[in-house]
Amino acid sequence: MLTPRLLIASGNRHKVREIRALLEGLPAEVLGLEDLPFVPEEPEETGATFTDNALLKARYYSGFFEGCVLADDSGLIVPALGGAPGVLSARYAGSGADDEANRRKLLESLRASGFTEPAADFVCVLCFAAPGQPPAFFLGRWPGRIASAARGTRGFGYDPLFIPEGHSCTVAELSPEEKNRLSHRGQALAKFRGHFAKFLGRDP
Ligand code: IMP
Repeated sequence: MLTPRLLIASGNRHKVREIRALLEGLPAEVLGLEDLPFVPEEPEETGATFTDNALLKARYYSGFFEGCVLADDSGLIVPALGGAPGVLSARYAGSGADDEANRRKLLESLRASGFTEPAADFVCVLCFAAPGQPPAFFLGRWPGRIASAARGTRGFGYDPLFIPEGHSCTVAELSPEEKNRLSHRGQALAKFRGHFAKFLGRDP
């Protein structure tokens, strides 16, 4: 049987690094967007939900690639802020904002509304698109709370502000292995791996 090709459809190098580690040992040739230099640019994420955006990205890249596509849409939900930053997590402080600007805006929004260490969830939705098959979705949710100040140097995005449930440190203070074992992305990828094994007709 031919080794299937699986494209990780994300331009976020931090996510891609985590996904590659979490796909280790998968019986597939794992490719990244750097292997598709002819794709014009990333699609605009116009969806109202993580699921909409994951589907949008999977469909977009499937138009340029004949193998299987795995897209990730993820972000941080803070119920005290009405669910923000949510699907706008990557551009909370405006389009083109970097991680630090987004974290600063989150802390400012919390200060302005008088919340200290509110509950929050990291959410990840993966969309798997295989030729001739309906898309399949896998959800991961990581509960925790938002620290009053950034701590730690590992990870990316909101990691220095997110304290996972049952921990006193932030994600940016965890090892990459520990983050992958617990995270929203790790949970979604564990579900995906089971599905992919069935898709190939093998045991997970
Ligand atoms: P997306 O590319 O629209 O899915 O944006 C995801 C954004 O959510 C990232 O740019 C981060 O700001 C945030 N995010 C998602 N997953 C993580 C994570 O594992 N750690 C920290 N921030 C994350």
